[in-house]
Amino acid sequence: MCGIVAYVGHREACPIIIKGLKRLEYRGYDSAGVALMNGSLSVFKKKGKVADLEAFIAGKDVHSNIGMGHTRWATHGEPNDANAHPHFSSSQKIAIIHNGIIENYAALKTLLLSKGHTFKSETDSEVFINLIEDIRDNSNCSLAEAVRLALHEVVGAYAIVVLSKDDPDQLVAARKGSPLVLGIGKGEYFLASDATPIIEYTNDVVYLKDHEMAVIKNGELDIRSKEDVKQTPYVQRLEMALESIEKGGYEHFMLKEIFEQPRSILDSMRGRMITEGNHLMMSGFREFENKFINAERILIVACGTSWHAGLVAEYLIEDFARIPVEVEYASEFRYRNPIIRESDIVIAISQSGETADTLAAIELAKSKGATIFGICNVVGSSIARTTDAGAYTHAGPEIGVASTKAFTAQVTVLTLIAMIMGAKRGTLETTKLHELMAELDNIPAKVERALKLDAQIQEISEKFKDATNFIYLGRGYNYPVALEGALKLKEISYIHAEGYPAAEMKHGPIALIDEQMPVVVIATKDSSYEKIVSNVQEVRARKGQVIAIVTEGDTTIPTMADHVIEIPETSEHLAPLLSVIPLQLLSYHIAVMRGCNVDQPRNLAKSVTVE
Ligand code: F6R
Repeated sequence: MCGIVAYVGHREACPIIIKGLKRLEYRGYDSAGVALMNGSLSVFKKKGKVADLEAFIAGKDVHSNIGMGHTRWATHGEPNDANAHPHFSSSQKIAIIHNGIIENYAALKTLLLSKGHTFKSETDSEVFINLIEDIRDNSNCSLAEAVRLALHEVVGAYAIVVLSKDDPDQLVAARKGSPLVLGIGKGEYFLASDATPIIEYTNDVVYLKDHEMAVIKNGELDIRSKEDVKQTPYVQRLEMALESIEKGGYEHFMLKEIFEQPRSILDSMRGRMITEGNHLMMSGFREFENKFINAERILIVACGTSWHAGLVAEYLIEDFARIPVEVEYASEFRYRNPIIRESDIVIAISQSGETADTLAAIELAKSKGATIFGICNVVGSSIARTTDAGAYTHAGPEIGVASTKAFTAQVTVLTLIAMIMGAKRGTLETTKLHELMAELDNIPAKVERALKLDAQIQEISEKFKDATNFIYLGRGYNYPVALEGALKLKEISYIHAEGYPAAEMKHGPIALIDEQMPVVVIATKDSSYEKIVSNVQEVRARKGQVIAIVTEGDTTIPTMADHVIEIPETSEHLAPLLSVIPLQLLSYHIAVMRGCNVDQPRNLAKSVTVE
């Protein structure tokens, strides 16, 4: 994780860097720092948020046209001023910002200590910069060459930018495994972990590839491979609008993103489903259509919320296309010697497109010859570029660390894929398909209606804001939603919450239920409705407090539940797109009432680029 920004050009570097770091704060917010070339090479860094750094540098001389900054999510070493980036080399002549992990840092550190290098922090990044300095001094080479040679020595993941006192007009950057975007303006260059710090100044960007390095010197850009072969940069024009990365009047990004869902769901199906004439199409899918349709098995790899979307897809694909699906935590899959065949299709789901475990799972599946289909939200992200084919979710930038609109966008795209597969395989009846398409078309408007429940959910939140535990129950398509509801609550309010398939409760969790235990039951009208009514009764019999999410007009469950939230009726296959909305709002309001930092919950980061 961690976010990095660098600038060189004709403007003041510091304000650009600070603003950029604020945009990247979702990637980590334990500490932050800047390095600026202002006559000398000055480093300012502080434990805490970018705002703390901003307060720290106020009144100091930060005039410079070249500099770099970092916002940290701690891996090696606790969050404190010393471990904050940028890090100096022992001579204080070269500085680095680094996102990633250097796995062989301990061995390198021992070697560098024996050569007289000194260290002020516990970080692997300080080892990296001392290695660069060691190579530069011993090989008597340029800074860029020293960085290039150092890349051959380090094992792990990195996106780095290096500044040197001796080369005051030069930025050297490199990447492997961690993202790095280069923005090209008029006589100015930007580097950042994603495009959000850049978009205000230029739409022309280059996504650096793994094992590439960029040297910007005296206004000239030179991109080379680690093997020193000159590369021709592929300049892309970004479509991202600045408003999409700002709060737009909402108190938090998370709330804004929850309320954006009618649009983000629509955008995720736009051009892929045309109800007039009943057309379904997905360009990324077309090339591998035959493989998909004839696959003996589909494996889904993902983490966290994306994994929950994968569980929904398992139900959908098996139901519509009758192909066995296995949903795997990417972090387990990559280390457990799984059986992967060339005939397998692997669907990798990731909002950020940078999750290290998901990337590693993809590499493993690729090495066994499977076809990889990516579902990502961030355009140009590492996963999007590593997969054989894929579909973007079009949710727009998701800044709040807790994922909301990305989940519903993923479920939308996966629903379309399941429908296409069912239609092509002839396993989904045409009338049923057309009904589903018509209903999917209605979903954005129904989500809009569900969002009107906000005030009611706020009242319910007030009653439960001091609870210490929560249980979430759901069956069938609503089981992954129960998991997602529990994850949202734990992430942002720090209340312990467990999600279970409702029928599993009697095999253990029922022991937890007493008058102190709030139980959120997703009990919409579907094929297991009668069964979940019995589960609600089981909770009531043990005096648990039931918060029920039901279908509008339900008359049974309201007689048993303490609180009832009515959502619009829909097909059970599409239920997650609606039933997750009140759960997102419930966790949001409870977290706000508890005074938690909703957009930047403790210990979390938006893209988990470490394993
Ligand atoms: C939950 C959340 C995380 C992510 C997980 C995967 O709100 O944000 O659980 O879902 O880290 O991230 P992506 O989808 O970027 O691979």
